[in-house]
Amino acid sequence: EEDESNVELSEEAGENGAISPAALQREVSRRRNFAIISHPDAGKTTLTEKLLLYGGAIHEAGAVKARRSARHATSDWMDLEKQRGISITSTALVFENRGFQITLLDTPGHQDFGEDTYRTLAAADNAVMLVDAGKGLEPQTRKLFEVCRMRKLPIFTFINKMDRPALEPLELMDQIEKEFNLPTYPVNWPIGSGDRFVGVYYRPRNEVHLFEKGTKHGSQGASVRILPWGDPALEDIIANDLFHQLQEEIELLEELTPPLDMAKIHSGDISPVYFGSAMNNFGVELFLENFLEYSVQPGNHVSDLGEVEPEYPNFTGFVFKLQANMDAKHRDKVAFVRVCSGQFVKGMKVQIARNGKTLALTRPQKMFAQDRTTMETAYAGDVVGLNNPNAFCIGDTIYTGPKRVFPGIPSFSPELFCYMRNPNPSKYKQFVKGLNELLGEGAVQVLYSVDSGRTDPILAAVGQLQFEVVQYRMQAEYNVETQLEPLSFSVARWVTGGWPALEKVGRIFNCSTVKDQWGRPVLLFRNDWNVSQLLGDHPEIGELAPYALPP
Ligand code: G4P
Repeated sequence: EEDESNVELSEEAGENGAISPAALQREVSRRRNFAIISHPDAGKTTLTEKLLLYGGAIHEAGAVKARRSARHATSDWMDLEKQRGISITSTALVFENRGFQITLLDTPGHQDFGEDTYRTLAAADNAVMLVDAGKGLEPQTRKLFEVCRMRKLPIFTFINKMDRPALEPLELMDQIEKEFNLPTYPVNWPIGSGDRFVGVYYRPRNEVHLFEKGTKHGSQGASVRILPWGDPALEDIIANDLFHQLQEEIELLEELTPPLDMAKIHSGDISPVYFGSAMNNFGVELFLENFLEYSVQPGNHVSDLGEVEPEYPNFTGFVFKLQANMDAKHRDKVAFVRVCSGQFVKGMKVQIARNGKTLALTRPQKMFAQDRTTMETAYAGDVVGLNNPNAFCIGDTIYTGPKRVFPGIPSFSPELFCYMRNPNPSKYKQFVKGLNELLGEGAVQVLYSVDSGRTDPILAAVGQLQFEVVQYRMQAEYNVETQLEPLSFSVARWVTGGWPALEKVGRIFNCSTVKDQWGRPVLLFRNDWNVSQLLGDHPEIGELAPYALPP
């Protein structure tokens, strides 16, 4: 397959071997990229596998999970990873389906939830929000949802585990509309739930899809029987009460939901909703088919020189993630680049906007699960892993042609804080070096106290694991043993007006003043209530922002 597309490209190649505008446009328009956001246990791993199964990338589900366990058995994984039995690393999964090239950005979840989870969303064009039908919306989903909102990503909702006792579909949709202020459009509608979840009504084609349970955990595709709504046979096949309920609900849906507005889906103002069971493969194939139709292709990216279109002929991209120690034996590090425009070609020379350095990208990697294959070309929406990560910082723009700079990736609002101490003064140099390198990689944020006189750095993170990784790597890579002292704050706010705004207010109670790595003022609070209190008492402080872009 790959050979064929290369031949096609060379035929269409313009002058100097560059890709022709038509071929570039075609490559962009067949790309779809998305990340799955969910709360732990909602079924993200299962859905990912099933999408790969129906996408034709794997032939039997269980492969990704199995590979994970096999990986833990080999010795070349970070000790910490093995101790905790979790995956710190994450990857972009790439597969072809229905003529599309699909990139699934695998957001680290679970215990390893951290800033990388947020950053991955900076590289995504679409988000799939996975909800457990029995539990409804859960807290971690909300945080990730807010990042999607900020980025105006189209959000597709997959309501999973319909084969278990579930909340009413209308109740679930209501939660999304009320709690997230996000109107929904059900694309399919469940017929029954729990043991009696027998299928879905697929609205775009007025079809009933009846599922049959297949192999255990649905390692192979489920068999589906499709009948048009109105087929008299349906009344015999579907239990009487479920049939009449469906009849009523279809009428209700037609009344309640306004016609589908694709523009609103694309701007993230309406979420298409799908019901199913990833474990049993119910509704997964329909979801994939429909997602490919409704999702957006890679779009424009704002830069200092205006918007960059994906068809802009020069290559541009940004680093959204740096990953260390994927293979401890080789001290391997990878920088992940989201391609924004043009054609990426292996070996090409690019410039880094931050320092003007030129670099030949000789060893790019495309990721599929943990197997790496070399990538020859890439286009907007693709993710390329690069092997010279020491050259890069999070948020770096890389480009060919005239210089352009994409805004950096925001430092996400940390919720956990602790002092990191170096108890051994003779290790001072290594301590500072290690801390700076880990900071550059974006492993953690670092703040410094302003009002306490204490000089130890304050590590700030969104997930506990980030601290453990920093401590582990300080020891393993820089030979510095460190001590952590937790602080009892849980909210950080950047003072948008800077130090002058703070001076206006004078002494503030119930919070601590610190500065970020660029010397900008940040306030640490115990809770949101204290933030509101400050804003109420001292409106002259101006805006307090939960996120800050690098200056
Ligand atoms: P996560 O990555 O979001 O944490 O979730 P994961 O896919 O690991 O799924 C969490 C648990 O939920 C798993 O059960 C999985 O089998 C189950 N699950 C996923 N989708 C469905 C579904 O549609 N219906 C039902 N009933 N269960 C589902 P487990 O017991 O933790 O693991 P396993 O032994 O079943 O693999």
